[in-house]
Amino acid sequence: MRSLQLANVTPGMVLARSIYDAQGNVLLGSGLELTESFIQRLTVIGVHRVFIADDATEDLDVREVLPDMVRARTIAGFRKVFGAKGVDLPGIERVVNELLSEILNADFAVISLTGLKAQSSERFQHSVDTCCLGVAFGARMGIGGLRLKKLAMGLLLHDIGLSTLPPGTLDQNEPLAGAMLEQFRQHPETGWNLLKHRDDISPLTRAVISQHHERWDGSGYPHGLKGEQIHEFGQVGGLIQAYDAMTSPRPHRPPLKAHEAIEVLVGNAGRHFSAELVRNFIRRVPAYPIGATVRLSTGDTAVILDFNPDMPLRPPVQLLEQGRLLKLSQEPSIMIDAVL
Ligand SMILES: [Fe+2]
Ligand SMILES: [Fe+2]
Repeated sequence: MRSLQLANVTPGMVLARSIYDAQGNVLLGSGLELTESFIQRLTVIGVHRVFIADDATEDLDVREVLPDMVRARTIAGFRKVFGAKGVDLPGIERVVNELLSEILNADFAVISLTGLKAQSSERFQHSVDTCCLGVAFGARMGIGGLRLKKLAMGLLLHDIGLSTLPPGTLDQNEPLAGAMLEQFRQHPETGWNLLKHRDDISPLTRAVISQHHERWDGSGYPHGLKGEQIHEFGQVGGLIQAYDAMTSPRPHRPPLKAHEAIEVLVGNAGRHFSAELVRNFIRRVPAYPIGATVRLSTGDTAVILDFNPDMPLRPPVQLLEQGRLLKLSQEPSIMIDAVL
């Protein structure tokens, strides 16, 4: 299988992975031959990328941090407990426990979560995806046991303060400004205020919720904390949620591709995020998702086969037409021109 932007999918291509709706039900099943009207339907629900099956990439198995079905189910489960009166902490803890056991038992080589990202249900999806990525990344950074669970709780709840914004605030077709922006910038604090009377919430969880928009150089909000004033979990939460937000579609912009988001993070190393944290991140999260279809500077179409942590922008690829393998780390003159 390989992944392709929906805009580059043509009728007759076959889905390699099912697509789920916001409730976790199959919308279009794997093996289905796509028609113009199916492609149209996916465009309408805001799907940007799908996995398709073809002979050339039959052997390529793309394993992600969380299988799409589990992920869709988790998003639906989180939506349910989140929507209940008040914050159903035991329910949220159940979602976290399930996620932790799925992710810690999963067999994935690199941290990747390229499955369906639709524009609808974005808030719950962003929370669940941020939690998945953060748990996978945190575990590889040596965070374990109860600390990992507290990190996970914080990541799942990090944007809980957004629930107090007037309805529709986040559905605007342009970036927020003025009073609305001011109110938005308070959401880490508002979020913490919603939970602070609960004695069953850890200070580590709090750090993620209240500090995920603070930035290393002090340019963040709401308190303008700087460097080590920001708790390790606030720093990790900030970087992971920024990466997920950049790579997710928003009403006013399409998603950044993984390598573009990595470039933004690298450009902000030592500014928005500690240089060490960014270094750790780019050695663990691939700049080009495995299975992504790309166009090389030679004009060839190829598929990303694996991740090269030493040279993240030069992964091994397979040429689609000739089937030949190419290690871009050994081909300095060949560039990846576009992710298709
Ligand atoms: Fe946030
Ligand atoms: Fe967020």
